[in-house]
Amino acid sequence: MTDLNDLFARLVVEGLSEDKKWLPTQFLYDEEGSKLFDKITELDAYYLTRTELAIMQDHVADMAQALGPRCRLVEFGAGSGLKTRRLLAAMDDVAAYIPIDISDEHLASSVKKLRQDLPGLRVCPATGDFTKPLKLPDIGVPFARTAVYFPGSTIGNFERGHAAQLMRGWAELVGQGGNLLVGVDLLKDRARLELAYDDPEGVTAAFSKNILAHANRALGTDFDLDGFDHHAEFNEDEERIDIYLVSNRAQSLTFRGKRFDFEKGERVHTEYSHKYSLEGFAALAEQGNFSVEQVWTDPGQDFSVQLLTAT
Ligand code: TRP
Repeated sequence: MTDLNDLFARLVVEGLSEDKKWLPTQFLYDEEGSKLFDKITELDAYYLTRTELAIMQDHVADMAQALGPRCRLVEFGAGSGLKTRRLLAAMDDVAAYIPIDISDEHLASSVKKLRQDLPGLRVCPATGDFTKPLKLPDIGVPFARTAVYFPGSTIGNFERGHAAQLMRGWAELVGQGGNLLVGVDLLKDRARLELAYDDPEGVTAAFSKNILAHANRALGTDFDLDGFDHHAEFNEDEERIDIYLVSNRAQSLTFRGKRFDFEKGERVHTEYSHKYSLEGFAALAEQGNFSVEQVWTDPGQDFSVQLLTAT
């Protein structure tokens, strides 16, 4: 078993052993999960991706100017995205692009494509987990500044304290005066939020259940996908979407010699997606040792891309 699947297995056991059961969010994504997530980004109900892309399209020149020449751009994830390409293409004399991903394979294939598409770009990939302390690779040329690009409102998938802790690590990584360019989804009415996380076509439900399918494929668990329903609910107190799988019957599962019982209606938590007001995110940034420099939004103020400077 790979190290990654071993971690997956340990977290499944840990999460299902607790009173309030949970499954490890990051394992929503395998090949199948990534395909399903791509489908989510094309749904009418899922306004996030297209809105962020439109903001990038309208304001990328301002963003590039703010980052300045000879910038090292760091991205967590293999960086095959359209938003990244737009940004890199608009930036002046990029010192290096540094994609950091946990999967070597994923990194290699996306770097190959990037080198074909942007031949003049210095790409210095590194393998690593962005939730752990990181060291950047030596790029071999002088640079004026370092910026982390973190699109997609992925910051919202972390609980506030954890998000602030991650940001403090990135503030150290980029150094004082360095930047974080981050996509942040904004608070809006419950109905739109809940629809974005539970679309009528059922694509989100299939994505949500992929964590079970992924475990069945990778770990040999015996989850019955029909025994669980996807449920997404806006939690007003915490200003976040809480995503669960709900056991629709009493059932049990045996894995690694342990038996896990699910009651009918019992919830298994899989993901948070926090939504911020501009003030709320500025407060988080401060806790993360950053200050908000510039904010770009769409005309409807659904989503924001924010430039932060490390203090
Ligand atoms: N980063 C995405 C978000 O918060 C992840 C996501 C979208 C998601 N839809 C989902 C996670 C449904 C679990 C279930 O918007």
